[in-house]
Amino acid sequence: MNSNDQNETNIQLDYIDKLTTVVKEKSEELGRPLTYNVTTFGCQMNARDSEKLRGILDKVGYIGTDSEDADFVIYNTCTVRENANNKVYGRLGVLYSYKKKNPDMIIALCGCMMQENVVIDKIKESYSFVDLIFGTHNIFKFPELLYNSLMSDDMIIDIWEKTDRIVEKLPSSRKYSFKSGINIMFGCNNFCSYCIVPYVRGRERSRSSEEIIEEIEYLVRDGVKEIMLLGQNVNSYGKGLDEDINLSKLLSKVTKIEGLERIRFMTSHPKDLSDELIDVMASSPKICKHLHLPLQSGSTDILAKMNRHYTKEDYLGLVDRIRSKIPDIALTTDIIVGFPGETEDDFLETMDVVRKVEFDSAFTFIYSKRTGTPAAAMDNQVAEDVIKDRFDRLLAEVQEIGRKKYEENVGRTEKVLVENVNEKDSSLVSGRMSNNAIVHFPGDSSLIGSLVNVRLTECKGFYYIGEIDEEMA
Ligand code: 5AD
Ligand code: SF4
Repeated sequence: MNSNDQNETNIQLDYIDKLTTVVKEKSEELGRPLTYNVTTFGCQMNARDSEKLRGILDKVGYIGTDSEDADFVIYNTCTVRENANNKVYGRLGVLYSYKKKNPDMIIALCGCMMQENVVIDKIKESYSFVDLIFGTHNIFKFPELLYNSLMSDDMIIDIWEKTDRIVEKLPSSRKYSFKSGINIMFGCNNFCSYCIVPYVRGRERSRSSEEIIEEIEYLVRDGVKEIMLLGQNVNSYGKGLDEDINLSKLLSKVTKIEGLERIRFMTSHPKDLSDELIDVMASSPKICKHLHLPLQSGSTDILAKMNRHYTKEDYLGLVDRIRSKIPDIALTTDIIVGFPGETEDDFLETMDVVRKVEFDSAFTFIYSKRTGTPAAAMDNQVAEDVIKDRFDRLLAEVQEIGRKKYEENVGRTEKVLVENVNEKDSSLVSGRMSNNAIVHFPGDSSLIGSLVNVRLTECKGFYYIGEIDEEMA
């Protein structure tokens, strides 16, 4: 963090002090604590941002609640597909009914959707009861904005077009005490032709390795055993920094942190995934045996139109290189169906890659037209019924292959990081294996946060039932 950014952290810490006083006074006046509710839409980056929002709200004296009938409600939004936006509009109506009963209620919106001008116009016009709106680039100003909102009856809107700043070192409240995400870079420079992310998250900015290591060391002292390095495109980590660093080198440094047991990272772009990275993954037992490698399409023609910078053969070759060095790795992916101009033959190329690679699981998406992206202006948008038919065929294939892959692991003993007591059956606990698959097995809450050896006894589609393997314990 440069001195300017450190200065900004100090400004926000001052607002946290001021907010603490205001919240205390308000609670005394009402004779009850003030409550908050944070809802997160979208990806892991948003989930991490929400931990920062919660950290500040906890710090200044608000009490978290599961109900949206709260004194402060915030939606951290996503805009990657149109239906994410529609969900937000739908739920705002419900919030308004709460606000009518509690006029002091503050409704706030932040995140990617707020970076779009059309969204702001629509909220101003149709949802004028919203109190506070900010975007992705100035989320660090949350303490100041919340303070201003508490002091004012007007709608406060603060959206930045872009930023080169990275302001960190403010409080955060983790969902799990034993695992955490950590931002290593922000933004994306790839401009895949369908994707709105580069427009709403801005250009790539990497944090220095020193700062990242410092933060992980702090997290480990605070009980974290597993970290997830986060970025829209982690394979281009380090570009633009003064130091000689890239993702492989960063991972090598992170593996040396004592007490840290597991490392994950996402999301990778196939065009930038180096052999050096595969070697680092293969040689470190701490790096989880899972790679999320978005394919998007198996057709070389469509990939070119998507501006992905790899061919079908490049992708298959990369998968071969990864599997030859890390045979037991789990590969997961994202696939878009119905990109403009996608023909049946193009779609069959995608199906071919799916069958050849045999992904452990795949997120399948129907192409969503995002205003302002190059693909939105392309001819040959595919008809809805054609897309639906392809989507169903793809989903069936992906699920059948996934089930088969999951079955193959039954009988193995795997290290599992226990996350929680099972919600449906309290005699079971649930956790994740290195390859990210979920397993439920008999145990109690004392196991939460520990790594245990579990024998996989049964596969239930996309999760396992297991038992503690006493011999390996
Ligand atoms: N339509 C459908 N899916 C999209 N994604 C990104 N943009 C779009 C879009 N316009 C998907 C991609 C990406 C994932 C996070 O969301 O598959 O990898
Ligand atoms: Fe979007 Fe492509 Fe960047 Fe991923 S790499 S965030 S799909 S532009």
